[in-house]
Amino acid sequence: MSFNIAVDGPAGAGKSTIAKQVAKKLSLIYVDTGAMYRAMALFMVRQGIDVENEERVIKNCKNADITIKYENGEQVVYLNGENVNGLLRKEEVSSAASKVSVIKEVREQLVALQQKLAASSDCIMDGRDIGTCVLPGADAKIFLTASSAVRAKRRYDELTAKGEECDLAQIQADIEERDFRDMNRENSPLKQAEDAVFVDSSYMTIEEVVNTIIEIAEKKRK
Ligand code: DC
Repeated sequence: MSFNIAVDGPAGAGKSTIAKQVAKKLSLIYVDTGAMYRAMALFMVRQGIDVENEERVIKNCKNADITIKYENGEQVVYLNGENVNGLLRKEEVSSAASKVSVIKEVREQLVALQQKLAASSDCIMDGRDIGTCVLPGADAKIFLTASSAVRAKRRYDELTAKGEECDLAQIQADIEERDFRDMNRENSPLKQAEDAVFVDSSYMTIEEVVNTIIEIAEKKRK
């Protein structure tokens, strides 16, 4: 049986940064499920399919063959045989991903892939519904969050460091709007699993959060 850690939480809570470090320290693979929704969104955008047209998305999603490989310890997403990692963070793809991810058929297809990966490898998987839907039997579950003000400030610092102009209040408003959408959608909304440990990273360093999760995981592994 493989050992699985589920990490859920809102956008910008630091899930991927933390999960990557925990993966390295505990020799697990890191499974980024958001990247799979992004790859599905990229497929639709490329096909010229309006992601708000649910019927067309459902009709076409089976044509998106999404597979995951690990190269030099990094997750690489293949879309119909092409490495698309470099294309998944574009704004257009982020926005489309949040729309395709509300569709039940898309979720079923990607959840099946996620469950297959978790069954065959020791992993830490992050997303929105991992502890509740994808891996309800995960060995350890973490709900990682931070206040919207702190998440907005982190994003603001990231963008200004890149020389991009941005408005802190606008970023916070966008984050709150996205949280609302994620928590109130009909299919697999963002929700803390009953048996998940709640970790608020607002006033913790990355190292503190990583160590907290390792402690939780090691207790479960014994
Ligand atoms: O974590 P992320 O920003 O890369 O996720 C991209 C989109 O996919 C985001 O709108 C939330 C959605 N998502 C989801 O619905 N379920 C998951 N398990 C992971 C991501």
